[in-house]
Amino acid sequence: MHDPIVTFERVTKSYDGRTLVVEALDLTLARGEFLTLLGPSGSGKTTTLMMLAGFEDPTSGTITLDGKRLNHVPAHRRGIGMVFQNYALFPHMTVAENLVFPLEMHGVPKAEIEPKVKRALDMVRLPQLRDRKPGQLSGGQQQRVAVARALVYGPKLVLMDEPLGALDKQLREELQLEIKHLHDELGVTIVYVTHDQSEALTMSDRIAVFHQGRVQQLATPADLYERPANAFVASFIGENNRFDGTLVGRDGANCRVRLPDGSEIAATIEADLAPGAAVAVSIRPERVAVGAQAQRDNRFVGDLREVIYLGDHCKLRLAVAGNESFVVKVAAGDAATTLDRGSALAVAWDAAACRALPPLA
Ligand SMILES: Nc1ncnc2c1ncn2[C@@H]1O[C@H](COP(=O)(O)OP(=O)(O)O)[C@@H](O)[C@H]1O
Ligand SMILES: [Mg+2]
Repeated sequence: MHDPIVTFERVTKSYDGRTLVVEALDLTLARGEFLTLLGPSGSGKTTTLMMLAGFEDPTSGTITLDGKRLNHVPAHRRGIGMVFQNYALFPHMTVAENLVFPLEMHGVPKAEIEPKVKRALDMVRLPQLRDRKPGQLSGGQQQRVAVARALVYGPKLVLMDEPLGALDKQLREELQLEIKHLHDELGVTIVYVTHDQSEALTMSDRIAVFHQGRVQQLATPADLYERPANAFVASFIGENNRFDGTLVGRDGANCRVRLPDGSEIAATIEADLAPGAAVAVSIRPERVAVGAQAQRDNRFVGDLREVIYLGDHCKLRLAVAGNESFVVKVAAGDAATTLDRGSALAVAWDAAACRALPPLA
């Protein structure tokens, strides 16, 4: 990678000396990149961020910032801005005073302070609220101030840990775009933590998917969706139908997977797996054709369990080859949406549209 700003090399972390909550983490962050750590609760995202920020030491391994080893450099000497979920603004200071504080901490000359405060408040569109206390602001306004405070002294790296987690959906989506636009304008490097996959897809240049302390895949949003490396990523990013089975034959990228009920699925495979390996076949709901005339490499007859109307499309839930919640997306008004529960419905998809994946990294 040209111009890396941060590297993690074989970083592990254990709080109790036994369980590894971060395991053998290798990660390189490009300067100016927006990288998101995405994963379920407890997967090690915050711990990773805290080690980069300097609030936790790695148990082993090395972290570098701009080529310098960070181990044992104290947090306030790292030049990193931070935003957390629960605001953490100083409640007794005004908005402007909250922004002056980090500037003074970093020894910014007096004459430069007011212009920087003004610019930061303009950036997050709050110049009119500079004399309010945090308690007199809405949640969204407080979080905008927190973003301004993290950016005000021009750090090269900003860390954000679920900064929008406490806000309602509409405000969250608005601030997602604002933060993304600020990132594009300022060219600052951002490491962002969320458990919300749509937030990660919206904002990121690349996403590291965490599960049980390990990065399952590090890739662009489109690659994660189109080419998941394993079944965890396939299920975590977007909707997915999964069939667990055994690889029974492969010829290059084409393979056959046998399911517990004896049926077989033709799929594509990239992983270095041999016949006999346990695999999960992943197929996206929008890649499945339905109805008597649907002819593809794979064809099953399912039992229609539910039709869910969602305005522009419908979701059908079926039992297919032992999978009791196989989901298909069809256009609202499609003939299949007028069928009754309990009807038999053919579903079909191409081998090229489904992937045989190892269960985990
Ligand atoms: N200060 C701590 N002391 C002990 N265990 C911790 C501490 N912080 C986090 N953990 C544990 O480490 C694991 C990873 O936590 P965390 O990094 O906060 O995950 P995430 O941010 O992905 O939800 C969890 O099992 C959590 O309980
Ligand atoms: Mg966390």
